[in-house]
Amino acid sequence: MKTVIVTGANSGLGLWTSKYLLDLGYRVIMACRDIEKTRKTINGFPEFDQSKEFIIKKLDLADFESIRDFVDNLSDIEDIYALDCNGGISYEGQFRYTKNGVEETFGTNYLGHFLLTNLLLEKYNIERIVMVSSELHNPKNKSPFAKAAFKPVNELAYPKVDENSTLQKQAQSFYATSKLCVLLFAYELDRRLKRKALPKYTLVNAINPGLMLTTNLGRTHKPGENIYRKLLDLFFKIIGLSDNPKASAKAVVQLIDSVKTSGQYYDINKAIQSSSDSYGEQNAKVLWEGSEKIIGSKFLAI
Ligand SMILES: NC(=O)c1ccc[n+]([C@@H]2O[C@H](COP(=O)([O-])OP(=O)(O)OC[C@H]3O[C@@H](n4cnc5c(N)ncnc54)[C@H](OP(=O)(O)O)[C@@H]3O)[C@@H](O)[C@H]2O)c1
Repeated sequence: MKTVIVTGANSGLGLWTSKYLLDLGYRVIMACRDIEKTRKTINGFPEFDQSKEFIIKKLDLADFESIRDFVDNLSDIEDIYALDCNGGISYEGQFRYTKNGVEETFGTNYLGHFLLTNLLLEKYNIERIVMVSSELHNPKNKSPFAKAAFKPVNELAYPKVDENSTLQKQAQSFYATSKLCVLLFAYELDRRLKRKALPKYTLVNAINPGLMLTTNLGRTHKPGENIYRKLLDLFFKIIGLSDNPKASAKAVVQLIDSVKTSGQYYDINKAIQSSSDSYGEQNAKVLWEGSEKIIGSKFLAI
């Protein structure tokens, strides 16, 4: 039985991805920051077949120690076939930070996955890695969301409040930029692994799962929000802009189960070009080395 790790597996896209992987006969390690909450979610999710092989393990992507503990505690697992870097956050308002003092969006969506992926690659011959990015990584996207902007790594990790912009716009830009960093990382990882020419070559692909208004991403939990989101989702579906986490999860599963590419970006299930910034090899190297400095470890040296 092949084992797949899914981060942020207790909600939205990650939960559906786990369900479909289990249905296909994979063993799924559901890597989540709150084990009790995950159990409750599964109990309230009738589509999830609890007789299948799933294991819930604690992983907080916003805490280097938790990531290291997660990898150390996999001693009972001999092989990992695939890793789905799915977990993510976005917020509004005051800047928030990880346990290590890094801005939380950059720290969770990108840096936590950078550490997790590299630690796992030191231990396992992983065959497939999927990085969940977003269309928002591309500054040419048409949404009113603030745009992604690559900056020196210290400014991404420890941003200063810009008094000439709103907190909302700055937080949006953190999210979009974190998804650009996810892509820079995916392509750099692909290049480094190819250069290493390991006996079992790892396929690394990234995906934009589309706009999924019914997941918990960016939830503010304000009264009436659920109904508002459902109505908005319906309206966006009518005009063809909203996507369903079920269909997006199937596309993620395809990247794990059958797609043979590497270093490719998928718009749900169609391979497309990502933004020109995302292919910048120099920025990818700067990001990699800056991330190593923050973490205090070196990975996949070239
Ligand atoms: N929804 C969209 O429109 C959209 C569009 C493009 C890309 N995406 C991407 O799709 C992925 C899945 O998002 P979703 O829409 O399914 O949202 P979601 O329902 O909020 O799921 C996000 C998952 O990430 C987990 N997570 C957050 N912070 C974490 C941490 N520090 N450690 C471990 N897990 C953490 C959450 O756990 P908790 O339940 O504990 O918070 C949750 O399980 C994300 O990477 C997101 O950026 C979403």
